[in-house]
Amino acid sequence: MPTMSTIDPLVPLRDRILAATRAAFGDQTADADPALHRSQHADYQADLALALARKLKKNPREVASAIAAELPADDVIAGIEISGPGFINIMLRTEYLAARIEHMRADASGRLGMPPTVRADRVVIDYSGPNIAKEMHVGHLRSTIIGDSIARLLEWQGHTVIRRNHVGDWGTPFGMLIEHLLDERTAGSEAGVRELGAFYRTARRKFDDDPTFADRARRRVVLLQSGDRETLATWRRLIDTSVEHFSQLYAALGVTLAPTDVVGESAYNALLPEVVDELARKGLAHESEGAMCVFPPGFAGRDGEPVPLIIRKQDGGYGYATTDLAALRQRIGELGATRLIYVIGAPQAQHLAMLFATARLAGWTNDRTRLEHVSFGSVLGSDKKMLKTRAGDSVSLAALVSEAVARATQIVAEKSPELPADEQARIATAVGVGAIKYADLANDRVKDYVFDWTRMLAFDGNTGPYLMYAHARIRSILRKAAGAGATAGAITVDAPQERALALALVQFEGILDRAGETLQPHRICAFLYDVATAFSSFYEGCPVLKSEDGVRASRVALCEVAAQTLALGLALLGIAAPEQM
Ligand code: ARG
Repeated sequence: MPTMSTIDPLVPLRDRILAATRAAFGDQTADADPALHRSQHADYQADLALALARKLKKNPREVASAIAAELPADDVIAGIEISGPGFINIMLRTEYLAARIEHMRADASGRLGMPPTVRADRVVIDYSGPNIAKEMHVGHLRSTIIGDSIARLLEWQGHTVIRRNHVGDWGTPFGMLIEHLLDERTAGSEAGVRELGAFYRTARRKFDDDPTFADRARRRVVLLQSGDRETLATWRRLIDTSVEHFSQLYAALGVTLAPTDVVGESAYNALLPEVVDELARKGLAHESEGAMCVFPPGFAGRDGEPVPLIIRKQDGGYGYATTDLAALRQRIGELGATRLIYVIGAPQAQHLAMLFATARLAGWTNDRTRLEHVSFGSVLGSDKKMLKTRAGDSVSLAALVSEAVARATQIVAEKSPELPADEQARIATAVGVGAIKYADLANDRVKDYVFDWTRMLAFDGNTGPYLMYAHARIRSILRKAAGAGATAGAITVDAPQERALALALVQFEGILDRAGETLQPHRICAFLYDVATAFSSFYEGCPVLKSEDGVRASRVALCEVAAQTLALGLALLGIAAPEQM
């Protein structure tokens, strides 16, 4: 048997195909990509011959045949056929496939045979980033959900993950917010701040309608910036109340961000002058119309003029960009990050690209540093416009979560009336939250998606509840098996449905690698859906409990690996997998 250090059969296959290509055509083909994928016609299909034929100016079918001739059947490959214009169809040896699944099952650590990475990064992942004294709304949903699943995945892979919740806790709006909070205190009530949405709107209205209040607010900004004690104390109260609100939401959503991960914009205040000085000293920042600006090459506006990254405004104040530069520098310099991930919506793409360009020019990065913008599209309503409440306000996340759980509560009551009430409640919370998260993660994140309660809560199709249900169903089969004294045993892969299920399962390691590289959780979703549907066909075609001893033991074992795979995959997405539903 080949090395067991990896369960991904694509790794040895890829190696063999590359070796065969080199044997057939020499080193000029060393950079070929075997482009392996699962296919209806074979276990895997490689379609490197077409591209190679173009390069070598040969007939693709002949190229494919020449490679195939160098790929004799061995302990991995059972047989090869050329099909179509030059596809190489590969059938795996059944014993090999069975051994891969055995390897997954034999791992008592729960990692399904996938070892932690040997090349661990120090990852700083910047996500969620709500604003203080504002209610979290749907605009922060995607960053929070996508960011948390990436954090979970990279941590599980063995990287050191440092979460950063870069909350907006500084700037001119704090003048009016603090002033409003002080007014409330004078009036003997601070209750308002607990309703963050209303609190912010009232402060805003006073600022717009009442010139004396606006004046006080502006003076308050100066007091805040100069470090006035009373002002700072009031500001802290706003922060504490808000972080408490965020934490409640994170807990409800099953998001791993802790209050200690909050390192807001204000945390970098002391570093800002230094950052500007350094960039000026290095010849990167210049004065332009009274402001200090960096003009990283390659950024031009519609008019063809270079776009500035403003790092000090005309009035001497610093803004969002300077704070982000200071944070980036600190994340590399002090936190030792080798990979910096920013989970922020697509509209900030240019801001991040300019930030990254500036950091590279300033020499803050090295050969190993990766700077990545994990961009994402918008959440749309059924009218295909940005999701809003009927009144036209942005939808609060707290309201979204309560509605999800309320809807799931009804569904669970209908589907599982036999379960005790507290169990139903637990499942409903898991289903409601899981539905929202999965709907957000399942599509390629750069795309917009339509927020659709009925679809995301459906128990069929590519949804969170479907996968949770698939998992619970396998657990129930396993409980029955245990009750009947049927234990798991050596895996044999005979029936076509068993083979299809095994082929789906063994992709796990490769999928997680790709998802961690590309920071695309939807790859995990597609994989889990593939496993769940393959399991469904398997269970229809291959009786588990009613089959005879050896077959039954093998099928029970396949059920175990399938259940563990779904549970681990869902856990990496941040979705609970109840034992029964
Ligand atoms: N608070 C910002 C917003 O609401 C998001 C912060 C994103 N993180 C960052 N490092 N800029 O849009």
